[in-house]
Amino acid sequence: MTATSTTSESNLNFPEGFLWGGATAANQIEGAYNEGGKGLSVQDVMPRGIMAPPTQAPTPDNLKLEAIDFYHRYAGDIALLAEMGFKVFRFSIAWSRIFPLGDETEPNEEGLAFYDRVLDELEKHGIEPLVTISHYETPLHLARTYDGWTDRRLIGFFERYARTLFERYGSRVRYWLTFNEINSVLHEPFLSGGIATPKDRLSEQDLYQAIHHELVASAAATRIAHETNPDIQVGCMILAVPTYPLTPDPRDVWAAKQAERANYAFGDLHVRGEYPGYLRRTLRDKGIELEITEEDRALLREHTVDFVSFSYYMSVCETVTQEAPAGRGNLMGGVTNPTLEASEWGWQIDPAGLRTILNDYWDRWGKPLFIVENGLGAKDVLVDGPNGPTVEDDYRIAYMNDHLVQVAQAIADGVEVLGYTSWGCIDLVSASTAQMSKRYGFIYVDRDDDGNGTLARYRKKSFDWYRDVIASNGASLVPPSQEPPRA
Ligand code: BG6
Repeated sequence: MTATSTTSESNLNFPEGFLWGGATAANQIEGAYNEGGKGLSVQDVMPRGIMAPPTQAPTPDNLKLEAIDFYHRYAGDIALLAEMGFKVFRFSIAWSRIFPLGDETEPNEEGLAFYDRVLDELEKHGIEPLVTISHYETPLHLARTYDGWTDRRLIGFFERYARTLFERYGSRVRYWLTFNEINSVLHEPFLSGGIATPKDRLSEQDLYQAIHHELVASAAATRIAHETNPDIQVGCMILAVPTYPLTPDPRDVWAAKQAERANYAFGDLHVRGEYPGYLRRTLRDKGIELEITEEDRALLREHTVDFVSFSYYMSVCETVTQEAPAGRGNLMGGVTNPTLEASEWGWQIDPAGLRTILNDYWDRWGKPLFIVENGLGAKDVLVDGPNGPTVEDDYRIAYMNDHLVQVAQAIADGVEVLGYTSWGCIDLVSASTAQMSKRYGFIYVDRDDDGNGTLARYRKKSFDWYRDVIASNGASLVPPSQEPPRA
């Protein structure tokens, strides 16, 4: 076997202790947006997803206000995850449940108690928690009053929030992520960075300063975590999008490299602890001068992450040489790859890209990697099955099988992979479109795009499939009958 070998059954080996599971975010599952002392978050005023401008107050057509009611149904939901044999469950803590406004000095005990109960339930089933501290849920007050992360004071508010979490849960939660898809702030400043200034009026100076504040806050949280409990493992979380040159023209190759670097920069800062030369040049070329204190530099340098996590849904192409149809990535740009199929939402399906990104990140950073999001958003149809309503979601099984086979390939390539949490293991409200009908789960939730439904939960065909994958530690995966098409 050579380093360039492709798929073979003998490579379907996952290490013992591999963390199989699923992922969610508070704003997409919890609901109860105004219960338990919770304050409003930026999500509560997004009526129809991130593409719509925020409103002044929550509106009834915002599906996230009730979401799938995990706030009241968490015990039953976690029992279903346990039935699949989950080793790990990724969820986020809603910042505005703990600090309703974000700038208070004392936390909201009722909010803290809710996550105690969630952790109790996970412990009962032997499921390891993986907690995201900030997943697109900045308290609305911080957005309105401070313009989100453009204001340096948010570092202090975030430190207080993170310290509260580590002190309360630090002995129970080993794996933590600071900011979900931290690089997405480049594209969605309100959703990702709580920046209320509309995108078209936000200066690049302010945007990059906000990014700097988030990076410093992430390092500060890492410091507090390790001081609280040296066993805690902190990871950054990057939206990974492998970017290929559309043609072999060297200008396309360079364009693809630059696009990748826009994302690499976030990992470089988290892992290497300093601004890379290419980013310093970008800032110089744009005439941006960041306010970076000596203390900031020390924090970044001395408190780097223990592992790198990322989401992976698709790859894109870049070109400067010809007209090409724009891609429809979740948040990122890029152009369409003519060799790949796409999901119903136009996200191009590229299992081999996952092996590529795993190898790239490992070669670049040499840190353990955690795939904390991956999956297929699809329209499911509920049908009658022998054990009640179900969904025959063979398309989802095929998607996940093919991606997991590539994870196994990367592991055989020598990459250290801690685990895999599929996105939206239970159906939830989509982040980009705010739809219920864009479903990712192994568990169907009875709710439609108008908010109608009983919220009942049903096991899909993929539920049994994933249970078998976990039970066999990946041995039940099937190598795809055909290699991914070659360009
Ligand atoms: C990631 C986010 O970008 O993609 C999740 O971290 C999101 O919050 C997921 O739900 C899938 O995107 P969407 O738009 O299909 O919900």
